[in-house]
Amino acid sequence: MIHDTQTINKTRQDLTNYQEIWLFGYGSLIYKVDFPYIAKAEAAIQGWERRFWQGSHDHRGTIENPGRVLTLIPSQNQNCSGVAYQVSHEVFEHLDHREKNGYLRYEIDINLPNNQIKRGLVYIAPEGNEAYLGPASEKDIAKHIINSKGPSGENKDYVLNLANALRKLNIIDEHTFKIEKYILNIIQS
Ligand code: BEZ
Repeated sequence: MIHDTQTINKTRQDLTNYQEIWLFGYGSLIYKVDFPYIAKAEAAIQGWERRFWQGSHDHRGTIENPGRVLTLIPSQNQNCSGVAYQVSHEVFEHLDHREKNGYLRYEIDINLPNNQIKRGLVYIAPEGNEAYLGPASEKDIAKHIINSKGPSGENKDYVLNLANALRKLNIIDEHTFKIEKYILNIIQS
């Protein structure tokens, strides 16, 4: 079900207090940049990994047939590489709406080039939120994704667009690439 986190997110940080706001993107925020930004950089956060464990009832699926999209899970010895954007606080009106289905904003250290570390924000859908689907094998996730679509398009395009964007950034993500491979195998069979 839709778990609308917009109201709760507004209470989590007072963004007007930040001198600079950096946002870490690890999924659709890498390839669908529909918001203005001041600066952009390759970036990483420590202790997190991507997983297609979050249900999407509003973008890549429907209430009846939710798709599967990314969240992050804690993972002590892993880094998650992606992209960071410096943005103004007004951008969060749009992003809180776009990422409203179970995602909470968390403060996090973001590693930027030249050993710079910025305190910034990331959207994570925590385990157990109402839209959470949880673990499954990459093969089962691919089968699920191939049969899902929603207002933002086919669920498989989320995976294929992301995998292409990650390759362009020289980011290796085994979980995403395995799911991509299963999806391509199913499409081509
Ligand atoms: C991201 O790309 O950072 C992101 C992924 C899923 C939901 C919200 C943000």
